[in-house]
Amino acid sequence: VKDKNGTDQVLLKNPKGASVKISLHGGQVLSWKSDKGDELLFTSAKGNSKPPHPVRGGIPICFPQFGTRGSLEQHGFARNKMWLVEENPPDLPSFDSTDKAYVDLVLKPSDEDTTRIWPHSFEFHLRVSLALDGNLTLISPVPNINSKPFSFSIAYHTYFSISDISEVRVEGLETLDYLDNLFDKERFTEQGDALTFESEIDRVYLNSRDVVAVFDHERKRTFLIKKEGLPDVVVWNPWDKKARALTDLGDEEYKHMLCVDGAAIEKPINLKPGEEWTGKLNLSLVLST
Ligand code: BG6
Repeated sequence: VKDKNGTDQVLLKNPKGASVKISLHGGQVLSWKSDKGDELLFTSAKGNSKPPHPVRGGIPICFPQFGTRGSLEQHGFARNKMWLVEENPPDLPSFDSTDKAYVDLVLKPSDEDTTRIWPHSFEFHLRVSLALDGNLTLISPVPNINSKPFSFSIAYHTYFSISDISEVRVEGLETLDYLDNLFDKERFTEQGDALTFESEIDRVYLNSRDVVAVFDHERKRTFLIKKEGLPDVVVWNPWDKKARALTDLGDEEYKHMLCVDGAAIEKPINLKPGEEWTGKLNLSLVLST
């Protein structure tokens, strides 16, 4: 399928009616629907993002830089580039294709612009899969096919759709240290039992366990975020003031989104020639009665 700008998108469906939509622009997941047709990811209704700008929502991939931690553009270039559907994807030994719909995308440094600002022969492979149980999985093998080492940061900047930011809580980050972007990336330790929200938040939690949960009491939904190779977790909500400053986000939309990203930020991934890193993010929905 194509979007209104003519960008190719891939639609995955499972036999129960769940679906996932991925754009070749940025390799960005734009929609993840449950078998009841409920949208689980937030995307802004303002919809004024045109390539090269990514859509505000879904799962943009921040690579090879997170935020402003480096000399590249904010969150790196991967989310602004056109990705390709990969005809001959690499073998993923741990991937069981039974009951899954999936697509393989790849980003390669194809234009002069990329090689000038980031002169490394990398390949970023991305397999997006939708399982019979509705789980969404992103697996990214990144090999260094160069003769020089390189290092990168990454975040799967996941915008969850939530009923109301004041009603949700996040568990799994208790007692962790975090870097606070609102305080010059200073390091603090989380004191609370679970995270709740009453103002802007922009943090990188460090060395988290491999499962984090977002509870949406009002919608009786819980999102489970399981991750491998991604020690850090970004938590972001712009709140009212910053939301007004973002031209591609409605003034009130911050109430219905929460970013919780599997990420590797504090300690960049270092790859020697011939080495490969693989990250894996698995999102599932648990409904309570
Ligand atoms: C967050 C960053 O992860 O992403 C924030 O920590 C940033 O500082 C936010 O504002 C959104 O970034 P962007 O470039 O998509 O507007």
